[in-house]
Amino acid sequence: MHTGRHFLQIPGPTNVPDRVLRAMAQPVIDHRGPEFAALSKEVLHRVRGVFQTTGPVVIFPSSGTGSCEAALANTLSPGDRVLIFETGWFSHIAWRRTAEKLGLSVEYVPGSWRRGVSPAEVEARLRADTGQDFKAVVVVHNETSTGATTRISEVRKAMNRARHSALLIVDAISSLGSIDFRHDEWEVDVTVTGSQKGLMLPPGLGFNAISAKALAARKVSTMPRSYWDWEEMLKANESGFYPYTPATNLLYALHEALQMIEEEGLQNIFARQERYGAATRACVRAWGLEILCEEPQEQSNALTAVMMPEGHNADRLRGIILEKFDMSLGTGLGQMAGKVFRIGHLGAFNDLTLAGTLSGVEMGLELAGVPFKKGGVQAALASLASSVGEPVIS
Ligand SMILES: Cc1ncc(COP(=O)(O)O)c(C=O)c1O
Repeated sequence: MHTGRHFLQIPGPTNVPDRVLRAMAQPVIDHRGPEFAALSKEVLHRVRGVFQTTGPVVIFPSSGTGSCEAALANTLSPGDRVLIFETGWFSHIAWRRTAEKLGLSVEYVPGSWRRGVSPAEVEARLRADTGQDFKAVVVVHNETSTGATTRISEVRKAMNRARHSALLIVDAISSLGSIDFRHDEWEVDVTVTGSQKGLMLPPGLGFNAISAKALAARKVSTMPRSYWDWEEMLKANESGFYPYTPATNLLYALHEALQMIEEEGLQNIFARQERYGAATRACVRAWGLEILCEEPQEQSNALTAVMMPEGHNADRLRGIILEKFDMSLGTGLGQMAGKVFRIGHLGAFNDLTLAGTLSGVEMGLELAGVPFKKGGVQAALASLASSVGEPVIS
């Protein structure tokens, strides 16, 4: 038997704030009526701020993978060559597999699962493509299976240096609203996200932020699409409606979450996330354990994947922590199964949530007989206390 609240410290779905839960608990309204149109128009307008774009954003009733498929299906044609960079489980499952099933010709650039995408590699691959054969470059901003963040601004600069015309499609599913992401400034063509991470909502909404170049690509794209078609969606959205039944109550939730994000300020959220990333890493280092992402400037501020010492299974540790302390941690995915556990520190979160989370891990390490040095939680508390400050931007 457990008392108090469950600690949901997986890297998404994240904890849903009480304000958002209350906002969702409304009678369902007519999705073809004026009240819905007003809600929907406001949400579609305000959500642009989180993407740092002034262009259109469409919202599908779907998981994140659905919005990945939408990005590909609207911009490309069967047989088109796409360059997808391996960063971990999600570059494979959400992108390579989806693209292959859609009949795209995928060049999957191998990566180590311990790094983000190398901008130099992007540049080299595109320079070698003298015929401008690649129609799109796909990059996962924050690889949720490994905790490595790619520097998208540098990827964009690399593409521009190579003078390549490919679209830039970015998976920001576990970064949007947690780690700085600038759709317009970084000239991203399609930004893909889901509701269940930094946006602090339950799962069920998929998003595409769309550039003018991506909209133009849609006009010549011959990929069969129906449910995912941007054109029908954008047309219906003009008057606040959808081509099919929208996820009405999740849009109430999004309305409240956007309110919370605007009250705090995006830059303040990013600064807060940086503190959580730094404190968690200080903790893991003090434990004497290894962080999966080996490049310090790519270590994620949304989650930290921790490697288990040889001979110790991460899922056994996770099981003990769930049983004894009612806390869920992220499992190792794909080739990392059993080898890492992932601490989610994104979404509705504060200093004491992190302190509680890391305390649960430290107690779990001890109970599981994993060799580690004590003092990790102390190191995290010191890091948090030393960086408590005023909001950077009010
Ligand atoms: C980076 C990334 N891409 C894609 C996905 C797939 O999203 P979903 O599980 O909502 O379909 C996830 C899910 O966690 C993710 O973290």
